[in-house]
Amino acid sequence: MNPAAPATRRALTTPPAPASPFPYNPGSLLSVLDLTVDGASRLLVRATELEHEDPIVRDHILAKRRIALLFYESSTRTRTSFELASKALGADTTLVSNLSSSIEKGESLKDTGLTLRALGAEAIILRHNSSGAAWLLEESTRLPVVNAGDGMHEHPTQALLDLRTILTHLRPGVSGVKPDTLAGVTVMIVGDILHSRVARSNMLLLPRVGARVLLCGPKELLPEQAARSGPGIEIERDFEAALRESQAVMMLRIQEERLAGLQLDLEEYKASYQLTGQRLAALAPAAVVLHPGPIIRGMEITAGVADGVQSAILEQVTNGLAIRMAVMERALTAENGGPADRSSPARRIKGGRA
Ligand code: CP
Repeated sequence: MNPAAPATRRALTTPPAPASPFPYNPGSLLSVLDLTVDGASRLLVRATELEHEDPIVRDHILAKRRIALLFYESSTRTRTSFELASKALGADTTLVSNLSSSIEKGESLKDTGLTLRALGAEAIILRHNSSGAAWLLEESTRLPVVNAGDGMHEHPTQALLDLRTILTHLRPGVSGVKPDTLAGVTVMIVGDILHSRVARSNMLLLPRVGARVLLCGPKELLPEQAARSGPGIEIERDFEAALRESQAVMMLRIQEERLAGLQLDLEEYKASYQLTGQRLAALAPAAVVLHPGPIIRGMEITAGVADGVQSAILEQVTNGLAIRMAVMERALTAENGGPADRSSPARRIKGGRA
């Protein structure tokens, strides 16, 4: 009997996994996996175009379109940059926060989303403490939903702005990406990988443009199975060894709000994983230092490194504005892959069809 036969039979009779119905709306961005490499590239290129666009022209792109920001968790960078980006394209925005809305009275995510849609919202930007909340909101409203961070799951626009920052430093002059754009580049992600949606989105995006992702942290915050999240991802527990190999170093905050009773010896953590000026100078003197924020000075990173010449932390924040302009334009104009597939919106506006 051919020992391979039963397996072959199984393979032939197992029905294919159903295709994910998400995203329902072509403008949604729920995960970096919603984007092909080409799609990510178009957003990056469009971000640069929009950044340089005449503000008066830009102001017409989403003129008077209604965008709701629905935030169940605190945010400084993401909320402000989505709001400013939407307004820079001429949209009207409204913020609904869990702390000052009927969410406090127990209104569900679905009912809040439907209420916003009934008020004329054409897209919703959602930050939520539950992984998968953006999918639920999209299913309930069928509006374009942009995931601004869902629990421990994903933060796709953060990964895009991180990629833009890495390109600026390691591939100057390159604004789009291809599958080999970051070939030969190691991006280290250090710290609380377990709870980090930023780490997850970067782990799913960076290897698709050629980067090697090296994860570093203690077992409590970086389980072994993280290396099996996808191709191009490895674990190196020794921070100093990992630093030596890295051209980009992404430090993460320990997310105390998600530790759920996990006890960590913070002094031991700092001794092993804190990015100090001494370590950086000795082991990665040319690396670009990233951090999604908020940074905790003196914990995962010293003040000297955060403010130092290798730090691109504030550039990341600025890049968030350009990336989120491109994402919100896609959200409200996407048909079969978004505006970059069609004529440039700026050209259409100049032609009087805004
Ligand atoms: N990077 C990030 O998501 O920061 P905020 O929580 O301040 O939005």
